[in-house]
Formats: sequence, C-alpha cells, structure tokens
Amino acid sequence: MIEAEDAPATRVDPLAAAMQEVDATIRERLSSHVALINQISHYIISAGGKRIRPRLVLLFAQALGFEGRERYDLAAIVEFIHTATLLHDDVVDESSMRRGRKTANAMFGNAASVLVGDFLYSRAFQMMVAVNRMRVLEVLADATNVIAEGEVLQLMNIHDADLSVPDYLRVIRFKTAKLFEASARLGAVLAGVGPDVEESCADYGRSLGTAFQLVDDLLDYEGDPLALGKNVGDDLREGKPTLPLLIAMERGTAAERELIRHAIEHGEVQGLPQIVDVVRRTGALDATREVAQLEADQARVCLRVLPPSTAREALLELCVRSVHRSS
Ligand code: IPE
Ligand code: IPE
Ligand code: MG
Ligand code: MG
Repeated sequence: MIEAEDAPATRVDPLAAAMQEVDATIRERLSSHVALINQISHYIISAGGKRIRPRLVLLFAQALGFEGRERYDLAAIVEFIHTATLLHDDVVDESSMRRGRKTANAMFGNAASVLVGDFLYSRAFQMMVAVNRMRVLEVLADATNVIAEGEVLQLMNIHDADLSVPDYLRVIRFKTAKLFEASARLGAVLAGVGPDVEESCADYGRSLGTAFQLVDDLLDYEGDPLALGKNVGDDLREGKPTLPLLIAMERGTAAERELIRHAIEHGEVQGLPQIVDVVRRTGALDATREVAQLEADQARVCLRVLPPSTAREALLELCVRSVHRSS
C-alpha cells in the first residue's frame, strides 16, 4: 500500500470521471455519414483544448447539487459551440496554428472549415432540443447570437486605431465572455436555483470570460507559441486593436503612438519586435493583466452564493489560473 507521504504530489482532478463522460458524449455525437465532416471535426476535437467551458457547466451543476446526465450533454454542447466558433474564427483571422496543429483551414481549406463549423453549431442545437428544456434553448440561442455579433463587431473594428476601451471591452464580452456566462448559467439552470443565484453564476462566467480574453490578447504579445499551441503576433498582423496596443498608444511618445497607429491601420509583421518593445516598456502588458485581475476578482466575489465544496474550490482556482496562464 502507498503511504500518504509517498503518494504523488499531483492533485486529483475532481472532474476526471465526469469529463470522461463528456468526452464519450462528444465522440458519440460527432459522427456523421459524411466522411469529410468526421475527418475535420475529429481533427480539431482530438487535438484537445483546455475544455474550460464544459468544466464550468459541470462545476456549477456539481456545486449546486445537480447530478443528472443532462450535465454531460450540456457540457458537450458548449464545447461544440466553442469549436464551431474556433473553426470560423481561424478562417476570419487567417490563422495557421491551433491546439499545436495546423488549423483546419490550413489543412482542409476555408470552405470546408466554415461548413463543418456550421455542422457543429447545428448538431449542438439538435442536442439542445433533445434535452427538452425551453430555458436551455433560450440561453444558448441568445449566447450563439451574441457571439456572432461580437465577431462581426470585431471585424468592423479591424484597422481602427481610434477604438475606445469600452468598445473593445464590448467585443470581448460578446465574442468570448458570453459563452463562459452561458456555460456557468446552464449549470445553475439544471440545478433549478432561483433567479438571484442563477444571475450570480452567470456574472461569474461573464467576468471570468472577460479576464480570459484579456489574457489571450496579452499572450498574443508575450506568449510562447509552443505552450499556447497557436502563433503569437497574429493580432498585430491583422491590425486588431486590442487592449495592450490601446494602452501602449495612450502611454507612449508621439513617435511610438504613430508607429502603433500605422501598424493597426495597415497590419504589420516587420515592426512586431519594435512594437512588442513599446508595449512592454510602457507597461501595457502589466496594465492589461491588472484589468484581467480586476475581472477575476469580481468573478471570485460572485461565488459567495455557493456553499463550500470541492467544485467551488475549483471555480476559485480558475479565477487565479485564467489570469496567470501560459496556455
Ligand atoms: C480560444 O479559447 C479562444 C478564446 C476565447 C481566446 P480557449 O483558449 O479556451 O481554446 P482551447 O479550447 O483551449 O483550445
Ligand atoms: C476569440 O478571439 C475567438 C472567439 C471567441 C470565437 P481570438 O481570435 O483572439 O482567439 P484566438 O487567439 O484565435 O484563439
Ligand atoms: Mg483568432
Ligand atoms: Mg487571440
């Protein structure tokens, strides 16, 4: 027998068994009679990913005492929706790396990626109908609609060096935080809690998702492509005015401001090292992380409505990890 002190130091994942059920649901519901759909959807899903959104569904359901099998379906559904947005996003962003592999658009082409994204979206809606709860349909129909609005708003903001911080924050609340919010809310909906508790769970998801995207945007300047599994510098290449750039413009000299403005307006690769230097020196990356920290702190406060449990602990830990992450 292994003595406690000889036991491995690695912490046991409280969701390990539940995530296996989710993965089984994903595998089962991914299948199609169309070979190319199977090929592309397996290609991206089997590459892994952090599976944060399904974890939110499971953790809130668990923290609020819901143990029915619908939690696995809803967890798989939010991962399908997330994966569909990634397939579409990589086409729009012309990205070439995702989850440590070539993107689906780089492997199979833009048309196939968009169409398989549509397959995943509509499969997710078939699964929602099977869950047979109007409130679930309402939450997810609303979330997918808002995500699409966020991606279109972002498209409209490309190359706009005068974008305001509130307008930037609106985009990330829509394109990313909304699905985190829906995932957290669905755990509460399954558990049948009252509106106040449900709203606190949703607020946690919204704040955590906002922190998560802020950090994604700073990792695009200082991250390690190997750890991230995607390229860095893509945002600048596309002329995406994200918070690190907006802060650096505000704090930099007139010449530095002009350098960044030019890069946003024209999309820039050659100037990247110099711009990263300005972004670092003006403290824009640290400032972005501080904004993310404030969001994560707000998320933490929302968890007061949950009774103490290992699930609640895991949700608290996610607040730390989403701000201090490298992947
Ligand atoms: C990537 O999301 C898109 C963003 C919202 C930044 P994740 O970082 O959760 O992607 P995977 O699922 O772990 O690959
Ligand atoms: C997140 O934005 C995309 C979605 C929420 C669909 P990004 O474009 O920053 O995500 P990555 O960096 O490609 O993962
Ligand atoms: Mg992208
Ligand atoms: Mg990004």
